[in-house]
Amino acid sequence: MTTQAPTPLTLALPKGRLFDQVQEHFASRGLVFDFNDRKLTALDTSGRLKIILVKNADLPTYVHHGIAGLGICGDDVVFESGHEFTHLLALGFGHTRMALAALKGSATTAQPLGGVTIATKFTRFTREYFHALGVPVKIIRLDGSVELAPVLGLAPYIVDLVETGSTLKANGLEVLETLKEIGVNLFANPAYYKLRYQEIGALVDTLRK
Ligand code: PRP
Repeated sequence: MTTQAPTPLTLALPKGRLFDQVQEHFASRGLVFDFNDRKLTALDTSGRLKIILVKNADLPTYVHHGIAGLGICGDDVVFESGHEFTHLLALGFGHTRMALAALKGSATTAQPLGGVTIATKFTRFTREYFHALGVPVKIIRLDGSVELAPVLGLAPYIVDLVETGSTLKANGLEVLETLKEIGVNLFANPAYYKLRYQEIGALVDTLRK
């Protein structure tokens, strides 16, 4: 009788700046993978993981539909998706903050926040944050380069991720307030977690080391 090799766990990773940090973190724990020739799927060298490379904002969709059983991304992205996942592990890198920002020096002269316009990619977060405070705001959705909005007069305020602060600084903006600290997490589709919990538990142990 032949024993079948176990089916690899499927993991969605985001393209972009987080990818290199994830790849390095995994490699230092013996989980080595590479994406060659613009391929968007890869197996790690042990055959334990099948990795799919997706756009950050699409990642929760893949995990929600079970196309990938596991995912890694910032909790900003998960929150915007509106999906619920099983949290497995907070990773110790990729921390950012969600901040309210405006043109430097405009905080004292700008209109009070109530009733004004905020440009952001994070519409769900922004709406819920200000609704919870009872502050009515109008939200304009942008998909990137949000810092342009106050500079060009589209909106006096933005809500955006700030990591080093250099993009804000380069565009003459400043943080008025940090609204939420953002971490990077490994999470699972809840049904997938129930089916593969032993292997997932072993993977979490490997990554926690
Ligand atoms: C993110 C974010 C800011 C920038 C902040 O944008 O939206 O623009 O990074 O980083 P910093 O504080 O280190 O300068 P990203 O590079 O993901 O591109 P985007 O503008 O298309 O969202």
